[in-house]
Amino acid sequence: MKLLALILCTVAIATISIIPVSHCRIFHLNSANLIEETCKQTPNHDLCIQYLQADPHSSDADVTGLALIMVNVIKSKANSALIKIHQLLQRNPEPDQKEALGTCGDRYKAIVEADVPQAIAALQKGDPKFAEDGANDAAIEATSCENSFSGKSPLTDDNNSMHDAAAVTAAIVRILL
Ligand SMILES: *[C@@H]1O[C@H](CO)[C@@H](O)[C@H](O)[C@H]1NC(C)=O
Repeated sequence: MKLLALILCTVAIATISIIPVSHCRIFHLNSANLIEETCKQTPNHDLCIQYLQADPHSSDADVTGLALIMVNVIKSKANSALIKIHQLLQRNPEPDQKEALGTCGDRYKAIVEADVPQAIAALQKGDPKFAEDGANDAAIEATSCENSFSGKSPLTDDNNSMHDAAAVTAAIVRILL
């Protein structure tokens, strides 16, 4: 009798400890698959994987959740650009440089204050078309900043990386259309 109880007990413990482990593995496999399948449909697979994996929320996100993570990437890129613009303005730039930096400040502020909230609200409401517009508009704002410099722009890297992030975001959103 004691032996039987011991066996049953062992089986029970083994079952309890195996279930969550296998469950966990399936879960992580699925999330890696979803990220991979999603990023394959964007113009920049590697960058997409890199951005999504950097956010811990991606492990239990659906495609809408992945799109929201990318919108946050756009937001943080715009905020970094704003910090850089602020620092450049503090160095007493030439008047035309100063004017261009002012324009850029407005453009990147528009990303943070208009495009990003629009995209987030649209995704949360299940209205992805407006989220795609928001992402595309972020890239347009960055280009408009770039165009405000007559010569060399100190924000070319920001423009390029905003373009890349916006293109990945828009492509993920299009999966939802
Ligand atoms: C901004 O970046 C995009 C993507 O790299 C590029 O195609 C575009 O020419 C850039 N805009 C300007 C004005 O440099």
